[in-house]
Amino acid sequence: MSNTARFGVSLDADLLKLFDGLLDAKGYGNRSEALRDLIRSALIKDKWDENEAGAGALLLVYDHHRNDLSRRLTAIQHESFNLVVAGLHVHVDHENCLEILVLKGAPKELRALADKLIATTGVKYGVFNPVSTG
Ligand code: NI
Repeated sequence: MSNTARFGVSLDADLLKLFDGLLDAKGYGNRSEALRDLIRSALIKDKWDENEAGAGALLLVYDHHRNDLSRRLTAIQHESFNLVVAGLHVHVDHENCLEILVLKGAPKELRALADKLIATTGVKYGVFNPVSTG
C-alpha cells in the first residue's frame, strides 16, 4: 500500500509560471519531483546538524601562491584527518586551485572544519554541501 500523501498548493500564477520555467530548464518531468527535491534540501539545511553521522562535500578555490595557503590548508586538514575521507585537487590555471574534499563524521565537526577552511585568509570561494541519503 502506498504511503504517498497528496496536497494542494495555492500559488500566485506568475510565480507558478516562473517555477514551471525553472523545472523545464532543469529537466524535471513534473512538479511533484521538483517539490520533493526542494523539501529534502530544506530539511537537510534545517536538520542535518542534529544527525549523529553525516557526510558532505567541501569546495574551495584559492590562489596557491598567496601566503603559503596550500600548506596552511593542508595543515588544517591533517588536524582533522579522521574527517577528511578524500580530496581532489585541480590546478584551474596558473594561480588558482580548485579543491573538493569529501568529509564524513559528526555533522557539527564537519561544519566546523568546513567553516575553518573556508574562513582561511586567501580562500576566494568556499561552499560546503551536506548530503543526505534519506
Ligand atoms: Ni593547484
